[in-house]
Amino acid sequence: MLGSTPEFLRCVKCGSKLELDAFKIKKEIEEGILECKKCKLVCPIIEKIPILWDDFSNYLSYRKVLGGKLYQLAITEKMKSFLKSSLSKIIFVDDRTLLEERWSKIYQNSKHSKFYSLIKNNLGTLSKSNFVLEHGCSIGIMASFLADSNKMVFGIDRSFSALRFAKKSYKNNLDYVVADSLSPVFGNLQFDLVMALNILELVEPIELLKHVSKQISSGYFVISDPYDFDRGANSVRKSLDESQLRTNLEKFGFKISAKTKNPSYIPWSLKLNSRATLTYKVDLIIGKK
Ligand SMILES: C[S@@+](CC[C@H](N)C(=O)[O-])C[C@H]1O[C@@H](n2cnc3c(N)ncnc32)[C@H](O)[C@@H]1O
Ligand SMILES: [Zn+2]
Repeated sequence: MLGSTPEFLRCVKCGSKLELDAFKIKKEIEEGILECKKCKLVCPIIEKIPILWDDFSNYLSYRKVLGGKLYQLAITEKMKSFLKSSLSKIIFVDDRTLLEERWSKIYQNSKHSKFYSLIKNNLGTLSKSNFVLEHGCSIGIMASFLADSNKMVFGIDRSFSALRFAKKSYKNNLDYVVADSLSPVFGNLQFDLVMALNILELVEPIELLKHVSKQISSGYFVISDPYDFDRGANSVRKSLDESQLRTNLEKFGFKISAKTKNPSYIPWSLKLNSRATLTYKVDLIIGKK
């Protein structure tokens, strides 16, 4: 985590400022905790990545294997003992570790998909921003690109595995946080550009639009999706189609750019393995306030 990041982060439970206790500092904060003095929430920073979850043991309850890995990765005794105590409180639910690791690999193998270069071209036409946020940034393909031409870029993802890969490339104006996109992790910070690519199947769509709408008072919202909502029990409660997405964006105050008024079908190829590729046709919308 960059030394400057804590000033932008807020407690995901009560919205208060967080205090940093750094256990190991090199070029960045390698290990430590962020603590809310008000509600006593304690969030670890491991491998330079802050994990801002409202209940860390609950985060690990869905990622028991990751819990063991974090324990191995921890370099200070203080962090090891924090992890030991958190692991003792987990209630095993379901292990997402392997799934998150697998998808992190798929994105690494798919970073040359034409989809990303097309989005990059579209972003090139927008004015430069002071603050940029990418929701569900995964391994940071777009966030890292955006850091080359904007002042400060943050990426949020709930997958530690994905952010561990993202964090491998250092930029002094780019940082990542493990958090739920709908949590108040950046408090009332206003962004000039917010991106949410292909996450509507995973983050409740209307809630996300409402949340992002509060993060932008003047700026751009770039959103894309393949509308692949048919996921059984894991589906979000209310899906949106291409027309409902546009209507709702307008309802939340966004003006849709002329070139994205009509739905698009941009190929997004995900290389699942050496013999299988999944190609979605993705719709892109650029909204402006
Ligand atoms: C389908 S992938 C898209 C990745 C990337 N945006 C892209 O288009 O290449 C969805 C990403 O959203 C993340 N994600 C899912 N639910 C999330 C949530 N509630 N908060 C933050 N990230 C979430 C996943 O971990 C995953 O990395
Ligand atoms: Zn708090």
